[in-house]
Amino acid sequence: MVERGVTVVHGTVSSAMRTLAMLLVLTSEAAVFMRLDLSDNDFDGSEIPYRLGHDLTSLTYLNLSYSAFFGQIPSEISKLSKLSTLDLSSYSSHLKWTKRNLRSLVQNLTNIKKLHLREVDIYSTVPDILVNASSLTSLQLDNCGLYGEFPVGIFHLPNLEALYVSYNSDLTRYFPTFNKCNVFKKLDIASTNFFGQLPTSLGNLHSLIVFAISSCNFHPNVPSSIGNLTQLSYLSMYSFNDVSKGKLSVSFSWVGKLTKLYHLSLGDTNIKGEFLSFVSNLTQLEYLDLAANEISGQIPSWLMKLTQLTTLTLGDNNLQGPIPRSLFQLKNLEYLFLSSNNLSGLVEFDQFSKLKKLKSLDLSNNLLSVEIRNDLSATLPKLETLALGFCNLTEFPKFLKNQSELTKLDLSRNYIHGPIPKWFWNATIETLLTLRLYDNFLTGFDQYPGILPWTNMIFLGLGFNMLQGPPPIPPQSIKLYDVENNEYTGEISPLFCNFNNLQVLELSNNNLSGMLPQCLGALPELRILILRSNGFHGVIGKPATKHEFPNLRIIDLSNNGFSGDLAALESLDLSQNQLSGRILSNLAQLTFLAYFNVSHNYLSGPIPLGEQFNTFQEDSYEGNSGLCGMYLPKKCEDSESSTRPPPSIVEEDEDSVFQIALDWYVVVPGVVSGLIVGVVVGNI
Ligand SMILES: *[C@@H]1O[C@H](CO)[C@@H](O)[C@H](O)[C@H]1NC(C)=O
Ligand SMILES: *[C@@H]1O[C@H](CO)[C@@H](O)[C@H](O)[C@H]1NC(C)=O
Ligand SMILES: *[C@@H]1O[C@H](CO)[C@@H](O)[C@H](O)[C@H]1NC(C)=O
Ligand SMILES: *[C@@H]1O[C@H](CO)[C@@H](O)[C@H](O)[C@H]1NC(C)=O
Ligand SMILES: *[C@@H]1O[C@H](CO)[C@@H](O)[C@H](O)[C@H]1NC(C)=O
Ligand SMILES: *[C@@H]1O[C@H](CO)[C@@H](O)[C@H](O)[C@H]1NC(C)=O
Repeated sequence: MVERGVTVVHGTVSSAMRTLAMLLVLTSEAAVFMRLDLSDNDFDGSEIPYRLGHDLTSLTYLNLSYSAFFGQIPSEISKLSKLSTLDLSSYSSHLKWTKRNLRSLVQNLTNIKKLHLREVDIYSTVPDILVNASSLTSLQLDNCGLYGEFPVGIFHLPNLEALYVSYNSDLTRYFPTFNKCNVFKKLDIASTNFFGQLPTSLGNLHSLIVFAISSCNFHPNVPSSIGNLTQLSYLSMYSFNDVSKGKLSVSFSWVGKLTKLYHLSLGDTNIKGEFLSFVSNLTQLEYLDLAANEISGQIPSWLMKLTQLTTLTLGDNNLQGPIPRSLFQLKNLEYLFLSSNNLSGLVEFDQFSKLKKLKSLDLSNNLLSVEIRNDLSATLPKLETLALGFCNLTEFPKFLKNQSELTKLDLSRNYIHGPIPKWFWNATIETLLTLRLYDNFLTGFDQYPGILPWTNMIFLGLGFNMLQGPPPIPPQSIKLYDVENNEYTGEISPLFCNFNNLQVLELSNNNLSGMLPQCLGALPELRILILRSNGFHGVIGKPATKHEFPNLRIIDLSNNGFSGDLAALESLDLSQNQLSGRILSNLAQLTFLAYFNVSHNYLSGPIPLGEQFNTFQEDSYEGNSGLCGMYLPKKCEDSESSTRPPPSIVEEDEDSVFQIALDWYVVVPGVVSGLIVGVVVGNI
């Protein structure tokens, strides 16, 4: 029998909608269609019509993935009892489903083979009934907000070949014992809370091709039986291990037997010693990540045997010596990351012109001297990201004039003097998103246009230079603005009030003055505000409404001329946020704090010792399972010290803005009489 089916391929919104509507009309009497594939269209946020479930009861295949549907998935879908394939995956969790609906779906769809719900918002535990879905061959539940214990029976489903549950950070379980009947080809549980020993029986999964357990909490011991899985071509173990189990150095020599690997990630796995020689066996490798280990010695010249390599990530190790010339024979390289090692010597930058496909290069934070000839511009590949921090540069490299695709540039910690030249910004006006020029000797912008020219910039880091005049006005898109430790003068322009995306504003150690624009308090994205050591003045009191500084996590106003009335500051209510980390002990110095509430966050560690901290009621802390203290159900262990250095803002890149945002601290003023800190953080 020929299966009748419909596919709308890349139609416009209206034509896709029309087709769907027509289909439902046509089929309301005769439910003839067996396959419906509307994937990869743009339904522009419309809901999935519930009539699908009533009218298309013959369907065996339904694919609505990546089509911009929105809202609740209709429960009627579970009336499509003949379905063997259901794919509702999306890029951006706009579809929602309840656990109950998922359960009744599995109950009714007794023939279901492929169930793909990537990024559908489910937010529940995994329904047990899935262990009865014995026809399942492929289950994809990545990033669905699943939590709790993963039902072990799913691992024993007799036909299951592909299991994807990555990015459900609160989903937890240890691996069962696998037996030889297992037919797994793809197993991806990365970025979950799976834990325990990796069982030796993993060696029984003889069909395994993809194995991804990165960013989990497994015991650092790895059974060498994984070396028996000779079909493996994708192995991702980045940070698979629970750091609290200590820095156990394990042997990965069994990896040398996996000669079909094209993707190998062993970053942050406590590898110590010389460069792993078994890697020379893996000639199919396209992706090699050994970053954040303690690999020492030189970069071996045999790396040039890995001719397929497109990505080589060796940052954050103890590698020494020069960058070997053989590296420039890896003609397929697109991404090369060597930062934060002890590499030394002179790098003739024109060698990179041999790597015609290169897109990203990071040589920062070594002991290298990068020599850039002024006339090499024409031959270099067009880079997307470039980081040459601490590379002994004395001027803006001229070849940047032709780098018209650059999105990210870091020239921090060099010896670049004088103004930022106009030709530099001209090339990158539309592309540049991140600019980090920290710690140079920059004095300003050549022919400063009043407003910074980069129209899409997200991250501007100009701290620790000699910049003068008023602080530059960034574009609307800015999220992180850091000009600390310069010689800026004048007031903060009220234009800053328009920056609706601004999350971090760091202006400390300049000579800024005047009052803060009132409207700053209304910026809804602002999470970090640091004005330390300037000449600001004005009165800071109790915020007029709960809506001022609604998301602020870190505030540091110390060493300014702010004044106000001490009784005004009394309350710090941070309850029902998503704060993580510890409560800093210096909060205890805010002795005037009369009300303190951090309940229902993700805080951990001890409650600071300090008189008034003993007076706050227990329910000021409840709902933080990691918090411990004398008056709490959980008592602290001796090793849990109550201090931790505050997070540094300077060293973070823009990706970690979001990490800082989940952290917080209040800096206690140096001069007690000069300052009041009052923050009321509204509910999110
Ligand atoms: C659904 O369609 C998408 C996009 O066309 C495709 O990649 C995916 O494999 C299909 N899903 C299934 C289960 O066939
Ligand atoms: C799975 O099926 C068995 C037998 O049909 C039944 O007894 C059991 O309750 C089912 N499990 C769940 C979780 O529904
Ligand atoms: C792995 O292979 C070795 C022989 O190379 C064998 O002794 C061992 O039992 C195998 N382990 C598993 C779990 O299959
Ligand atoms: C290299 O691969 C071969 C199989 O192709 C294997 O026999 C050998 O043990 C491997 N060498 C290392 C160092 O793992
Ligand atoms: C800061 O500004 C004040 C007044 O505008 C000036 O007197 C002082 O010298 C400046 N300090 C520095 C370090 O530039
Ligand atoms: C702290 O906040 C929570 C939730 O906002 C509230 O239920 C609790 O009563 C508060 N505790 C005190 C001491 O006000």
